[in-house]
Amino acid sequence: MNATENWDRDELARAEALATELRASKRSTKIFAVRAPGRVNLIGEHTDYSGLPVMPIAIDRSTIIATAARDESMVALRNVNAHFSAREFRIAASIPPYPTGDWANYVKAGFQGVIDHFGKRGVGTDQLRGLEMIVDGRVPTAAGLSSSAALTVSSALALMATNGLTQGALETAQMVARSEWYVGTMAGGMDQAASMLGRRDHALLIHFDPLRVTLVKMPPGAAIVVADSLEIADKAGRVREEYNRRVVECAIAARIIGKALGLENVRVLGDVVRQIENWSAHDIVETLVGSAPERVSFAAASRILNVDEESLREEILGEVRNRIVIDETRPLEILRRARHVLTETERVYLAAKALAAGRLEEMGALMDASHQSLRNDFDASTPRLDAMVTYAREGGAFGARLTGAGFGGCIIALTREADAAAVLDRLERNYYAKLEAEAASRALHTIVHAGPGANVIEL
Ligand code: GLA
Repeated sequence: MNATENWDRDELARAEALATELRASKRSTKIFAVRAPGRVNLIGEHTDYSGLPVMPIAIDRSTIIATAARDESMVALRNVNAHFSAREFRIAASIPPYPTGDWANYVKAGFQGVIDHFGKRGVGTDQLRGLEMIVDGRVPTAAGLSSSAALTVSSALALMATNGLTQGALETAQMVARSEWYVGTMAGGMDQAASMLGRRDHALLIHFDPLRVTLVKMPPGAAIVVADSLEIADKAGRVREEYNRRVVECAIAARIIGKALGLENVRVLGDVVRQIENWSAHDIVETLVGSAPERVSFAAASRILNVDEESLREEILGEVRNRIVIDETRPLEILRRARHVLTETERVYLAAKALAAGRLEEMGALMDASHQSLRNDFDASTPRLDAMVTYAREGGAFGARLTGAGFGGCIIALTREADAAAVLDRLERNYYAKLEAEAASRALHTIVHAGPGANVIEL
């Protein structure tokens, strides 16, 4: 448990400071420090919830928690950022969430994952001790860098550590993969997996169903620039609705394709791909074109699928059926969404090979194509993100794209380390210089490095 090599000096100093604060109230108890990083996704966007691969890196920005067990089942949370007020709740088999948008819901989401998972192994909530924790989050929020996954993962690890629960990192990544469903987002498992399984100097080629990872060494001399648009990608609001809508659109497209091809048990596009040897995005998209209109209503989809409308909703939305609202007056865009996901999957495989071989031009071209597809077929970009991507290219990047869910947030660009300053400079002059000075000075725009995944130490 003492893998301090995964902690940089600043992170350790922060953890020590938090621990000192905890000790002031809790003399002589064991104190644990947890760190969990954010991530940027190099390629494979909006593929994870279709059970298709992604290729992120964990970044060198993390959330740190210092924690100590309590004798009773209450959890007391504090955040060093005064913007997030203190919270207290009790550990229970089913922890009720706070109102939408509350920061501590991500802590509860992580806890609920632990409670459900270890519950199945016979660890009842009456055996779990509460804890006191102080959170210091340094992953920029609402920027698409997975600050929420960093908080969820670190919280899950904090509850496990204070209760002496252990398991492998892959199992923990699997355990927290669906934790965002707790807060009403039907997200896939990429962010949590990247945060758990990150490796210094490596990108992570992550497959789902079942979760597994192949490491891809970052080519020496290559750099990833990340730049925040400052357009808020707040997943508690409009973005959540758009995000969930995409999940439903992809699931319906998958079912229609599955039926047309006579495949069994198709819930997501990954189930289609896994059942066809030598599949191609082009052929699968053609199948969809031949079986359904470009866009459909729920009613039309259920007619094509020959199921009743209610059971289709029930099957797709499952446990979040009553919490998630999909505006059904807008048609569901099935063709363009499926085309993005399937072509993006092809790009992920090509990108993993290009990156491993150090073919940066090719990797850059794939990133550009990913951005175009997210913009044209997935409607996940914005004029500001498009402009930033163009500036990054003009500044000499091999390629650039939005990263994360989109609808705002950050872009990333691939450059040679020696050229990163020129890319940043172009963004500075063409983008940030036009924003209000105070805002621009807050915006993250820098090189990020692939860093290690989450871990726990005892202080
Ligand atoms: C968000 C979600 C992820 C993933 C990305 C898009 O970050 O949390 O699961 O779907 O969007 O690739």
